[in-house]
Amino acid sequence: MGFDINKIRGDFPILNREVKPGIPLVYLDSTATSQKPDIVIRAMDDYYQKNNANIHRGVHTLAEEATAMYEKAREKIARFIHARSAKEVIYTRNTTESINLVAFTWGRQNLREGDVIVLTEMEHHSNLVPWQMLATEKNLKLEFIEVNEDGSLDLEGYQNLLKLNPKLVAFTHMSNVLGTINPAKEMVRQAHAVGAITLIDGAQSVPHFSVDVQNLDADFYAFSAHKMCGPTGIGVLYGKEKLLAAMPPFLGGGDMIKKVQLRTFKPNDLPHKFEAGTPAIAEAVGFGAAVDYLSDIGMDVIARHEQEITEYALSEFAEVEHLKIFGNGTHERGGVLSFELGIVHPHDVAQILDSHGVAVRAGHHCAMPLHEKFHIPATTRASFYLYTEKKDIDRLVVGLHAVNDMFA
Ligand code: ALA
Repeated sequence: MGFDINKIRGDFPILNREVKPGIPLVYLDSTATSQKPDIVIRAMDDYYQKNNANIHRGVHTLAEEATAMYEKAREKIARFIHARSAKEVIYTRNTTESINLVAFTWGRQNLREGDVIVLTEMEHHSNLVPWQMLATEKNLKLEFIEVNEDGSLDLEGYQNLLKLNPKLVAFTHMSNVLGTINPAKEMVRQAHAVGAITLIDGAQSVPHFSVDVQNLDADFYAFSAHKMCGPTGIGVLYGKEKLLAAMPPFLGGGDMIKKVQLRTFKPNDLPHKFEAGTPAIAEAVGFGAAVDYLSDIGMDVIARHEQEITEYALSEFAEVEHLKIFGNGTHERGGVLSFELGIVHPHDVAQILDSHGVAVRAGHHCAMPLHEKFHIPATTRASFYLYTEKKDIDRLVVGLHAVNDMFA
């Protein structure tokens, strides 16, 4: 399928709304959450209207239909990320829960006092705090790959950290603040060479470009549906079957068991072992529809479009006085630009932009240490997706000029 931006935009009902009378929405906050195409909204609505039942429990028609829909979505997701099997795709609530699952099960089982975990300075809080909690509990050492001034990782420094023989290397595939795309495959290869397990935070990568977990050879890979045209409340932990099979369960309850006696239980097989209680069934159906939607367009086509929009934004930003992009290097990057506008506080920037109908995020974007490193309390962030058009960038730039005029 070719890429017709007007057709794509027509798929997203929310893009027709006005933020204020006469002021149409310009949505530049897809890194926080993406908008949802009609096809995803309808898939969930249809499910509730026609198939709603609990899964893996009933033998009645609705229960069988709901179970089949939930499992079919899992298979679609497995194919989308090129997992070997759907058994390696665990439904969670989101990326954060996926990473916590690994910390609390694999981490507790395998890490001992003094063990080293290597993270990076550009991690989102979801790939920091679970490891900090585990480090406190087990007396582990956390080491960090530094971020260079240009927003890339200090990969020479990484070599030195690998000499510490870390047990785990966990890093983001694409930064939610800098847009930096890290050389994940090479980083995994180097981690494996010293015997470390790898976890990749894919919250910002899976929505924006083609990800092949087998080619990356990642041991664990985490992402969320809501950033990739799907609903909130559901995400995935991909894990190599051998690792997942050896891990203890995470939450206990219905569905994650094979047999329960008063004092003991036998865990279920993969992937159900990690899915306790009634899951987000309609959301899984919506997630499957989102994967179909993105696949039909093509992830390479989407990535190319975002690249074009990012290049356009970078050239237009060059004309805006006082604008400084955070980590603006020549490394590979996705459609995320965080910036400062002179001394104007990002919350003021975002508020004025909102009055122009432009939605951006202001703050530390759940990456406080990264901002601290560069001595910046907050930035304004514009982020792009398949439905972003050049006109959106033009409206953003008009808004930024208005901020400059107001604070001149
Ligand atoms: N991770 C989300 C963001 O960057 C919440 O906005």
